Amino acid sequence: MTEGSASFNPPRGMRDFYPEDMASRNAIFGAWAEASLAFGFSNYDSCVVESLEVLKRKAGEEIVDQIYCFTDKSGRELALRAEMTPTLARMIAARQGSLSLPLKWFTVAQCFRYERMTRGRKREHYQWNLDIIGEPSPSAEAEVISCALNAMRLLGLGKEQVRVRFNSRALLGDLLGATGLRPDLHQAVFLPLDKRGKVSDEEIASMLQKAGLDEKSIRCAFDLLAVTSLDEVVSRVGEDKPSVAHVRRFLHIIAAYGFADMVEFNISVIRGLSYYTGIVFEAFDLLGNFRAIFGGGRYDNLLGEIGGSSITGVGLGFGDVVIAEILADLGKLPANKTAPDIAIGFMQPEQQDVAIRMACRLRVEGKRVDLALRPEKAKHFFSRAGSQAFHEAAYIGPDDAARGTVRVKDLATRTERELPL
Ligand code: HAM
Repeated sequence: MTEGSASFNPPRGMRDFYPEDMASRNAIFGAWAEASLAFGFSNYDSCVVESLEVLKRKAGEEIVDQIYCFTDKSGRELALRAEMTPTLARMIAARQGSLSLPLKWFTVAQCFRYERMTRGRKREHYQWNLDIIGEPSPSAEAEVISCALNAMRLLGLGKEQVRVRFNSRALLGDLLGATGLRPDLHQAVFLPLDKRGKVSDEEIASMLQKAGLDEKSIRCAFDLLAVTSLDEVVSRVGEDKPSVAHVRRFLHIIAAYGFADMVEFNISVIRGLSYYTGIVFEAFDLLGNFRAIFGGGRYDNLLGEIGGSSITGVGLGFGDVVIAEILADLGKLPANKTAPDIAIGFMQPEQQDVAIRMACRLRVEGKRVDLALRPEKAKHFFSRAGSQAFHEAAYIGPDDAARGTVRVKDLATRTERELPL
């Protein structure tokens, strides 16, 4: 590629959406909206520019280093949002007291992260966010996961393709407690352990050491990741812990939704964001070819930390990049559905008025009409109409205008019908 042509590319990690790309994007957004509304979530939105302070919440996690930030002309520290959750927390805090809880909100937010580019990770993506604020029971986790799996189903993916793996930071805390690790160090253990598989165990050990863990605690932390089943966890922490009851109840409820066979416990799901306090989860393709399709969890302290009263939240983010790649891999990316129903062309300037009137009438009837903007030869019109996958085509010449009717061709069956002009 020459220097000149490279300048037509969007900035690295950003995407252009040409009309042919919009069909699949709209299908994904459509499935998200349909599932949200079917589950009774209300739509909300906000500006892509957020105050840096709100986005940063707590220092020390990877996402903070990935924020695109800038100072405006008045010296305000601003940023392009990297995720929606801090903004949602700010919006809830601003109306605390006047909102009736629990509330269920959804949005599709464009997010920006200066990430290392890998398959499924870009520097800009759209993220469907589903959140339930003010519901302490695991009905909230089951509801958001079921809603996301419903959207997945609308896109043609089910138990043959996808699994949701979950864990609980509360349960992990109890496990760490059982090894004798001080509660104030638990949080510092989660984020390094989440990096398992992405960075070497030596690096993780050194992060844990920096967080204040001694040799023995570091060994214990790694040992925990070898636990494979929920029963094993329960045998270590005891059945009477609230964290165990929460997970058991979650499994019961998700089974009632009919998703028991798509949800499984996995100790290695910890998540990289610091605000999660309870159940955390991530959805993956069964072949293991891609990074997480969606991820989320329960956050008990975020609203309090942002300045509101402490209300519990549960939510997830579901990006458009990985799901589009999976659908493309499986040949399930939806085809262009937005091609107009009918193309109308005309031979000479004298037939333009009648063509416009015909288009106006059909549009009032609810048809999608592509009206030619200038006269053209019949051959050119029909080849254009054929190549753009219109269903029907009507070409108006002087004889048609004089007769007051036009022949409408069905481009698939090659049959014709007469329409009065
Ligand atoms: P997250 O795991 O950082 O969570 O992102 C959620 C999803 O967004 C990922 O599973 C992935 O689909 C998509 N995603 C994230 N980063 C990128 C990227 N660089 N390129 C493409 N896709 C990406 C959150 O953001 C939480 N705020 C989710 C949440 C909502 N938790 C509670 N409520």
